[in-house]
Amino acid sequence: MTPPHRCSPPFGNCPKGNSSTEAYIAAHHILLAHASVVQLYREKYQETQQGFIGINVFAYWFVPMTNETEDIIATQRAHDFFLGWFVDVLVFGDYPGIVKKRAGTRIPSFSKDESKQV
Ligand SMILES: *[C@@H]1O[C@H](CO)[C@@H](O)[C@H](O)[C@H]1NC(C)=O
Ligand SMILES: *[C@@H]1O[C@H](CO)[C@@H](O)[C@H](O)[C@H]1NC(C)=O
Repeated sequence: MTPPHRCSPPFGNCPKGNSSTEAYIAAHHILLAHASVVQLYREKYQETQQGFIGINVFAYWFVPMTNETEDIIATQRAHDFFLGWFVDVLVFGDYPGIVKKRAGTRIPSFSKDESKQV
């Protein structure tokens, strides 16, 4: 078992956790924490340290199996979930529409200020 030792079927069999909700909550807080630390660094340390700060997004790339519309849409959806889940937030201030639609109430939302900060 790998950290954080929280999951639920069908994604794993852990003593505690909920795989259909907790990943969205954890990712949300990673994004907010990132935004907060970037702001702190820029305000207090960057000028004297002349450093850089960023986030590393580990991603997969998908190619449609065929050129059928269904496969192309599925590929876009995979990109939205694997990459857009983080990158859309950093670039546009919100999750991709399809991610919000599919996740429904399981995904937290950003306030206007949080959206601007991320
Ligand atoms: C996970 O949370 C969802 C939404 O609250 C709930 O419907 C589901 O039953 C929970 N699953 C587990 C394994 O606790
Ligand atoms: C889909 O179409 C593109 C552009 O015509 C082509 O390069 C690609 O090989 C096609 N992919 C498949 C899986 O047929």
